[in-house]
Amino acid sequence: MNINLQEKFAEQYHKNPEAIYFTPGRVNLIGEHIDYNGGLVMPCAISLGTWVAIAPNNDGQFRLKSLNFDIETAVASNIVNEKDGTIWANYPIGVINEFIKDGKEISGLDFLFYGNIPIGSGLSSSASIEIATAFALNTYYNLGYDKLALVKIAKRVENDFIGLNSGIMDQFAVTFGEKDKAIVLDCETLKYKMVDVNLGNYVLAIINTNKPRELADSKYNERVAECQTALKLLNQEITLNYLCELNAEKFALHSHLISDETVLNRATHVIKENDRVHLAAKALNSQDLTTFGRLMYASHQSLKTLYEVSGKELDTVVDFCSGYQHVIGARMTGAGFGGCAIALLEKGYEEDFAKHLTDYYLDKIGYPAAIYISQIGGGPSSL
Ligand code: GLA
Repeated sequence: MNINLQEKFAEQYHKNPEAIYFTPGRVNLIGEHIDYNGGLVMPCAISLGTWVAIAPNNDGQFRLKSLNFDIETAVASNIVNEKDGTIWANYPIGVINEFIKDGKEISGLDFLFYGNIPIGSGLSSSASIEIATAFALNTYYNLGYDKLALVKIAKRVENDFIGLNSGIMDQFAVTFGEKDKAIVLDCETLKYKMVDVNLGNYVLAIINTNKPRELADSKYNERVAECQTALKLLNQEITLNYLCELNAEKFALHSHLISDETVLNRATHVIKENDRVHLAAKALNSQDLTTFGRLMYASHQSLKTLYEVSGKELDTVVDFCSGYQHVIGARMTGAGFGGCAIALLEKGYEEDFAKHLTDYYLDKIGYPAAIYISQIGGGPSSL
């Protein structure tokens, strides 16, 4: 963190913070738009994240400030389910509400947030601030929630309070992440395995398209609804809780039930993406990065053509990568509609890659992309 949060807290609240906590963001290596379909996903926590400093106050309110937004907002502890006019503050407000609804007697706390995850970039800045708040409350008040309980609280905030019908991947990833490991998470059973990410001669590059994600939430909810339509149609012949209970072979036996081409495309993506994650997990275990990279490209292609959540900015990045000799795999990561792509880049070519991609992208899109070489970091911590 390139900011002295302790000092900033003292400037804002005229007292020292009693505690400072960190929660990471995440990238998803593969398995996109399948968490809400009961699929297998493979996210990892990253070293970018959200810091929060807290100290008690005497007025019984929760005061929330963020160094990323020039806004102060106060929430009285007896107000539940009331959104604030500002967007960022709704995430911590939603979390505080959930704790109060759960009967926890908490009140009177000042918060100062700072995050270095580019906002709305597909790196889970929202899950990070949700879990940062939940982790801070749970630790500070010693409330005894386990990690999965915090994940579920944050997901409820996203679904019921914010109104995004997202799956569990992001909240899970930022809470359960471990250094240099990917989480292979089955989103139906919530069983997971930590897998070593040994990239050998490669590094993980994150490329932010800097494209604002307009209407992303409504398009996201539209995709969720299309998958539910597919599920309903398939249930005329078989009994399924989630689309990802089918593999491609079994799906082919029942896909005739889906006559709408768009819905068929969505379901085809979901089922084949899930199969790809199974293959990718095997490839990662045996350090077969070439296969892993090939699956990343296939995932992107499917998200572009069948699921239609990419866009010309993300496609431009991935097109560049596929023509660049020292990248073996690239794809969009997260919800899409703008945001970030990831690439497996050969070590030693970081500068060359950044220079050529920057020129190519600027020429095609008209504004610059941002490139980071990312470390795979750990989960929430007290500093
Ligand atoms: C967003 C959601 C996740 C997941 C991804 C797409 O990040 O919050 O639940 O659906 O999009 O894989």
